Amino acid sequence: MTKTNKRILSGITPSGNSLHIGNYFGAVKPQLELQHTAETYYFMADLHALTTIHDRDVLEKNITGVVLDYLALGLDPDKSVFFRQSDVPAHSQLMVVLGNYISYGQMQRMHAFKDKLQKDVGEESINMGLFNYPILMAADILLYKPYGVPVGEDQRQHVELTRDMAENFNKTYKKEVFPLPEPLISKEVGKIVGTDGQRKMSKSLGNTIGIFEDEAVIRKQIMSSFTDPNRKKATDPGTVEGNPVFLYHDLLNDDKSEVEELKSRYRAGKVGDVEVKERLFAAHQRYFAAARAKRKELEANLDIARDVLAEGARKANQFASTTLLEVYETIGIRNALNK
Ligand code: TYM
Repeated sequence: MTKTNKRILSGITPSGNSLHIGNYFGAVKPQLELQHTAETYYFMADLHALTTIHDRDVLEKNITGVVLDYLALGLDPDKSVFFRQSDVPAHSQLMVVLGNYISYGQMQRMHAFKDKLQKDVGEESINMGLFNYPILMAADILLYKPYGVPVGEDQRQHVELTRDMAENFNKTYKKEVFPLPEPLISKEVGKIVGTDGQRKMSKSLGNTIGIFEDEAVIRKQIMSSFTDPNRKKATDPGTVEGNPVFLYHDLLNDDKSEVEELKSRYRAGKVGDVEVKERLFAAHQRYFAAARAKRKELEANLDIARDVLAEGARKANQFASTTLLEVYETIGIRNALNK
């Protein structure tokens, strides 16, 4: 297949040490599919993780974990540029510029900041890294002038803010420096529900199903998942629609006839939750078998990941520094004294 010249950019924050199936189906899988048809730039947002992680050992572990996860899941370094944010200083440099093209009022309306306000204490204790996070994210995106940003639903507001910043910037200088990026978000899988059946699957909510954890951990996560709350006994007819265990079956189980059979037995009150979950666990193990094996190989030889990141940093720096220079020239930071 030939690649279009439509550039794609996306990132992931190493706020946990491993990806979950929400990250995978909502963002990583669509990103990996785009490798075949577009020019793709993907990165691990290590500087973003500082908003929540101030323990260096944890941060180091998370960074390595997320890089290995991506490679194990199918990131192909011959097809994508894969790099870490801190290896490309232009991300931090452009952030300093972009903050001047967005208002304090708009920043205050960002979800991440508002959620934190509701959950914890007052504004007084929110770190500025969290408040400014969407500006760094806008810099991450705009440096690569992408056509689209494949992400989950929870990132939509950030991509929209990025468009606002780009628009303000272009208008101010009457020049199309930044094309406006499109959020590429799937209707079906842009927001995978967690095992609590209520909220978005998220590490911080403890409602995840992992990909690379030990089998016993994954089994426990699956077995403790919420199902149909109105069903008391296996002989009660159950509801399949909106039932997270069946949603996961639809995503993971390659044996479609087994899924259909389980659904009809569930509706008829002819199968217990335990059997449905056991089959889900078996399907999970089949689905991720190759990725899990690949990750073990990568863990044993970190040189492979190091080489990928070094090459990614080289290519990303090339692109990003050209954009930064264009921005500096546009705003008047580069002038006759630099010639
Ligand atoms: P992060 O690391 O929280 O999540 C990584 C990706 O996974 C998606 N995702 C989900 N999708 C569907 N259902 C879920 N339950 C679910 N949970 C997570 C997220 O939407 C995301 O696409 N700020 C970003 C990282 C970032 C970035 C960027 C992304 C930094 N700079 C520039 C794009 C472009 C974040 O924290 O994602």
